[in-house]
Amino acid sequence: MDALTQYLESHQEQFLEDLKAVLRIPSVSTEPQYKEDMLRCARHVADDFRKAGMTRVEIVPTAGHPVVYAEWLGAPGKPTALLYGHYDVQPVDPLELWQTQPFEPTIRDGKLYARGACDDKGQVYMHVAAIQAHMKVNGRLPINLKCVIEGEEEAGSDNLEKFLREWRKQLDADVIVVSDTGMLGPDQPALCYGLRGLVYTQIDVTGPARDLHSGEFGGAVQNPANALCAIVAGLKDSDGRITVPGFYDRVKPLTQAERDVLGRVPFDEPGFIHEAGSPVAFGEKGYTTLERVWVRPTCDVNGLVSGYIGEGAKTVLPSFASAKVSMRLVPDQDPKDLFARFEAHVRKLAPPGVTLKVHDLHSAPPFMTDFDHPMLQAAVRALARSWPKPPAMIREGGSIPVMATFKETHGLPSILMGFGLADDNLHAPNEKYNLTSFHGGTKSCAYLYEELAKGA
Ligand code: BES
Ligand code: ZN
Repeated sequence: MDALTQYLESHQEQFLEDLKAVLRIPSVSTEPQYKEDMLRCARHVADDFRKAGMTRVEIVPTAGHPVVYAEWLGAPGKPTALLYGHYDVQPVDPLELWQTQPFEPTIRDGKLYARGACDDKGQVYMHVAAIQAHMKVNGRLPINLKCVIEGEEEAGSDNLEKFLREWRKQLDADVIVVSDTGMLGPDQPALCYGLRGLVYTQIDVTGPARDLHSGEFGGAVQNPANALCAIVAGLKDSDGRITVPGFYDRVKPLTQAERDVLGRVPFDEPGFIHEAGSPVAFGEKGYTTLERVWVRPTCDVNGLVSGYIGEGAKTVLPSFASAKVSMRLVPDQDPKDLFARFEAHVRKLAPPGVTLKVHDLHSAPPFMTDFDHPMLQAAVRALARSWPKPPAMIREGGSIPVMATFKETHGLPSILMGFGLADDNLHAPNEKYNLTSFHGGTKSCAYLYEELAKGA
């Protein structure tokens, strides 16, 4: 066994403790009461990159939460990788469904439970550990490394674009590396070459000026809860196709060749549906589950509120109703264009007697990287060295808003090498990260730097 691997294996406990320490900081980017914790988390992450051996480490303020920047440029003539990740996490509600506290990392059955365990602190800390291992064993990294760890990914990365443009020269690189995606099974690694985009909206429906007695006024005025349901019901037809005019205009039809490639992906469809806890698979007619999640757009209600929902009955007509509705997009759909079409359609679907506000909360363009790029072969080799099966080439249904920005600012190949699993409960109660993913992924990251140094 080489010295690097030996170091990685003998320091697993320490790597895990370092990860647990950062998981104890409640870095929820979307909730204002965590603002101080966000800064504390940025400082903590910066310290850990410094301790691992990065020479220049900075906390860069933005209009929102700060960016952590770390670099080591001691390998002239070798490629430079730009590592991207995020230290912010999603909110934890509903808290009562967590078996242990979200910010008290706990190990059960070889899995580490905490908010951010997988998404994305656990994956960022694989790189921190990999950097430390190289520095301790060899006193250097095999490549030059620049790290951008942001604090607003889960909020749509609103302020990152400005940072990337301002720092564009300093962020020069040869390849982008991101660990914020998944694998296909506990021993089936994957490289991701496509992500869906997102448009996230809120529809506010206002009816009467105040709540009304449903006997006195019911039947005489429009009920905003009924109106909102009519709007939502009108967004899809009975085949699961989205009814927004022009929604599919830029969606390329799937070719038979693409379908064949997707059909050969070692994807456990029954296991995936079982993991979701859903009795059956359900979705757009004419497509497989994998096609529905990876290459087809969606429109879903994320939340919906109106009227009386306390115990027992209250005969009332609510004056207000609101829904969060988001759409996942595929190449070449454009978030701005689709929001405009969506809003126009929602207004058309609204029955008379209510007023509407439709908000564009945030968005992310869809993303594809060059599947055949030789840089990706370095990642294939790194994964082959650290997992029992060769990596599968996959797309994913989730979004990473900055990937499209990187494409514009840098135009580089991107290695999306992540180790999440379908049962990791991302954004949900009891988020976890398998220790096999964390330790195996740490090796893959350490080997990736070596393989990138060998060149394409
Ligand atoms: N790590 C996820 C993205 C992801 C999820 C990739 C599942 C592949 C599979 C990321 O942190 C995330 O959740 N992104 C948000 C972005 C949004 C808030 C703009 C998402 O996809 O909902
Ligand atoms: Zn996330």
